[in-house]
Amino acid sequence: MSTAVLSDPAGTILLIGASRGLGQAMAAEFLKKGWNVVGTVRGGGTRTMLHDLADGFEGRVEIEILDICEPDQVAALRDRLSGRKFDMLFVNAGVTNNEKETIADVTTDEFVRVMVTNSLSPMRVIETLQDLVATPGMIGVMSSGQGSISNNETGLREVYRGSKAALNMLMRSFAARHAGTSRAMVLMAPGWVRTEMGGPDARLSIEESVPNLVNVLLSKQAKPGLEYLDYLGRTVPW
Ligand SMILES: NC(=O)c1ccc[n+]([C@@H]2O[C@H](COP(=O)([O-])OP(=O)(O)OC[C@H]3O[C@@H](n4cnc5c(N)ncnc54)[C@H](OP(=O)(O)O)[C@@H]3O)[C@@H](O)[C@H]2O)c1
Repeated sequence: MSTAVLSDPAGTILLIGASRGLGQAMAAEFLKKGWNVVGTVRGGGTRTMLHDLADGFEGRVEIEILDICEPDQVAALRDRLSGRKFDMLFVNAGVTNNEKETIADVTTDEFVRVMVTNSLSPMRVIETLQDLVATPGMIGVMSSGQGSISNNETGLREVYRGSKAALNMLMRSFAARHAGTSRAMVLMAPGWVRTEMGGPDARLSIEESVPNLVNVLLSKQAKPGLEYLDYLGRTVPW
């Protein structure tokens, strides 16, 4: 007789940027698979979709406050979680800019905002929180197919592309520095998904992307080393 499909064994994920969109949907999917979730949202006291989700999963969701661009907040989260071990750390938080804005017309402030949020800050979170990850365990970060240098034959979204390509390079450097670790590492390309960032014309619904994406993460868990994978588990060319 078949039983409910739970990942075996279910664990705890520390999910950075879980207030809405893909992050909130990932939290829901991990909960469905029997995992517990520690999810972060930005401060300000506003109720988020993660709070709504937590109400339906009594005792299985903890909500922490974090703006990934604030190093003091990253350090404070590290202190609050001291002594805990997570089976997976996944940094989902990210931003975009006006997709038509080229490198010729972006302001320096806007360039810095996107690069700091999408490239530096996810890596700073990983550097600061990585010792909370079990060994073996997994460290993942939300990249994008737009971060692939080889696949960029169309241009557009230049600043965003650059920020995710930089993230990919920085994660490869991190992996090189931790060569030989038993931990799995992944840069994830979720597909073009209808969220606030992806917009209404995106190819995929959240339901078409996230359950697949979570299955890819779960099957990557036992495979040490870094891979750049899409939501169907296909390798994305660097
Ligand atoms: N949707 C797509 O088609 C697509 C495709 C490829 C990659 N991605 C990537 O997937 C990730 C999630 O995208 P999404 O489509 O779900 O976008 P979204 O709906 O705009 O959600 C973005 C998430 O990132 C959080 N965030 C942004 N800046 C942050 C910061 N400084 N500190 C902490 N959290 C921050 C947001 O929190 P608040 O609620 O506080 O703003 C929100 O939870 C991003 O990394 C994005 O680049 C998306």
